Amino acid sequence: MPYYQQLGSVPKHRHTLFKDESGAILYEELMGEEGFSSDSSLLYHRHIPSGVIGSRVWELPDQTLTPNHPLLPRHLRLHDLGSASDPATVDAVTGRRLVMGNGDVRLSYAWVGKTSPLYKNGLGDECVYVEKGNAVVETQFGALPVEEGDYIIIPRATIHRWVIAGGDVVQLYFMEANSHIGPPKRYLSKYGQFLEHSPYCERDLHGPSSPLLAEGTNVEVYIKHRGAGPTGVIGSIHILPTHPFDVVGWDGCLYPFTFNIRDYMPITGKIHQPPPVHQVFEGHNFVICNFLPRKVDYHELAVPVPYYHSNVDSDEVMFYVAGDYEARKGSGINKGSISLHPGGHPHGPQPGAIEASVGVERFDETAVMVDTFLPLHLGEAGMATDDGKYAESWTPGHEWTGGKWSNS
Ligand SMILES: [Fe+2]
Repeated sequence: MPYYQQLGSVPKHRHTLFKDESGAILYEELMGEEGFSSDSSLLYHRHIPSGVIGSRVWELPDQTLTPNHPLLPRHLRLHDLGSASDPATVDAVTGRRLVMGNGDVRLSYAWVGKTSPLYKNGLGDECVYVEKGNAVVETQFGALPVEEGDYIIIPRATIHRWVIAGGDVVQLYFMEANSHIGPPKRYLSKYGQFLEHSPYCERDLHGPSSPLLAEGTNVEVYIKHRGAGPTGVIGSIHILPTHPFDVVGWDGCLYPFTFNIRDYMPITGKIHQPPPVHQVFEGHNFVICNFLPRKVDYHELAVPVPYYHSNVDSDEVMFYVAGDYEARKGSGINKGSISLHPGGHPHGPQPGAIEASVGVERFDETAVMVDTFLPLHLGEAGMATDDGKYAESWTPGHEWTGGKWSNS
């Protein structure tokens, strides 16, 4: 995070003896990135934060990854996953279904209606996009309400849980990094302030508003951490002697925050602007962009939909959230769809979309895009929702059946 925050009680000087009103010692913990050499916060706990009185295996949901082979662009219908399960039995930690992944990032999806267990991701930061619904994410830093259109960035190792009100259903798209996620460096000054050309700024970011304290003993925390297996991810459950929500105060530049997609100010131009103007966050070896309702290109001969492009170094994953995505018209893409355009495969508008876009002044689309430098493999949820025919959407008259192309 680029700027300093302070909540609750902290001592006048860091690393000095600190006690509560009753005279009990408060235990200082530094949570910091890159080995004391990047952003950090100091947290003051009522209990020793190292305590653990038990550990057992957490069998993660299916982490199988299947190469996109033979190579094809794909259309995945994520809403099929939500409608196939009862959200009242699904929570945002154990109920995630793996859509795609590689060694840098995993994309998962779930419709949830149940409060999750306490959880921390020991591999990297999480960016979770709220497609629909409301929830409260309770963390060691405080609680953050989230609503439709919010991204929440949760720093690595932050213990938290997703609280869902009874009867509510929340649709969540999870982007789990094996690194840290933050604003693109080119948006920031050398000291970390958002620059004038950035499409959002500090005012649009919302952290917790007060500390969150809870009591408890023998408290379970689900932990995702580095290990073996197809994604290099394994799970454990720690039993803590006391509740980890015992932070009376903290300060620093590392903490969870939300940003709503509606607060992103799209950059538009006389001719078509490339995807980097839509970038919102970045992690190691991947970027997150968003496409918002906006006025489009105003040259008298402008073609508002994208030109065909081979982004030769990236796999591109678009998650279509709202509106009509002009360039994909006629492809079967709809709200809740994902398109995967693998690196090196030229992609662009479906037939007829260019003609239909000329003269259009405004797009009403909303989409979240992840571009990765390493190839993406399909998770079990990606395999289960593949429509199997997206690749034929640029070539009317041809169908992909029985493992081969045929003229229809
Ligand atoms: Fe693209």
